[in-house]
Amino acid sequence: MAYGLAVRITREQLISITTEAGQQALASFRNLATETIHFKSEFDLVTDVDRSVQALLIERLTEACPGARFLAEEQDVHLTLTDEPTFIIDPIDGTTNFVHGVPHFCVSVAYAETKKPVVATVVAPALGEVFSAEHGMGAFCGTRRINVSRTDNPQHALACTGLFGGAADSMEAGIQTLVRIQSQLRDVRRMGAAALDLCYVAAGRFDIFWERGVSAWDIAAGMLIVEEAGGVVSGVLGETDEVLFARSVLAANPTLHRWFLSLTKQGT
Ligand code: IPD
Ligand code: CA
Repeated sequence: MAYGLAVRITREQLISITTEAGQQALASFRNLATETIHFKSEFDLVTDVDRSVQALLIERLTEACPGARFLAEEQDVHLTLTDEPTFIIDPIDGTTNFVHGVPHFCVSVAYAETKKPVVATVVAPALGEVFSAEHGMGAFCGTRRINVSRTDNPQHALACTGLFGGAADSMEAGIQTLVRIQSQLRDVRRMGAAALDLCYVAAGRFDIFWERGVSAWDIAAGMLIVEEAGGVVSGVLGETDEVLFARSVLAANPTLHRWFLSLTKQGT
């Protein structure tokens, strides 16, 4: 029994609805008319597909969970997250990749109770992958259980970061971290879809992901998926309270998470 609702959405229901949304996005991928691409700001794109995928998700999720609230990226007004059951939605994470025909984009949906994601799905339709998790039940890629890597030596670690151009201070701090840390790692990638980058940490493909300037919808689903895969998620300075609103994220296995924080405490 979920808080305020008769029934909590199941992982299977969420996978089914998010997969349908992913197929809708995929139908327009590499076939996008220029006039359907708009600017939210100089660096922040939105397309008519983002908006139609979000509308589909809200319709289907309302049918599945009447009474649930929505915190969705492309809403005109963003609600404050409360203890009430809430879906946190990024209809397309990696919109810039989507617009440029790069397949690393996804649909990300988390269902939160008492402000914490408890069921989550990230669907990457152009890559044919479905990541999911439920609190206490583990994380999955398709039907396969996934776990974070066991790499404990930074020199053997492949990391991923994001450098979002929309916030100059986040960009500057992110570049400084990158300059100091890159030579201590095997290598660093910048893939462009935070939700999916977190899933790659959960699957042990990346050992660390960090980014400044992220929003709750970029990280809510991926955060639960990493935690259920045995990883640790915080803000880049180790913030553990209200991580969804810390405006930064650090995800890794416990050893590399501690290592990264020991560097940030030295001013990285
Ligand atoms: C963005 C992507 C990108 C990250 C930005 C996000 P959007 O989300 O996750 O990788 O660098 O911080 O805003 O705009 O594509 O949904
Ligand atoms: Ca988005």
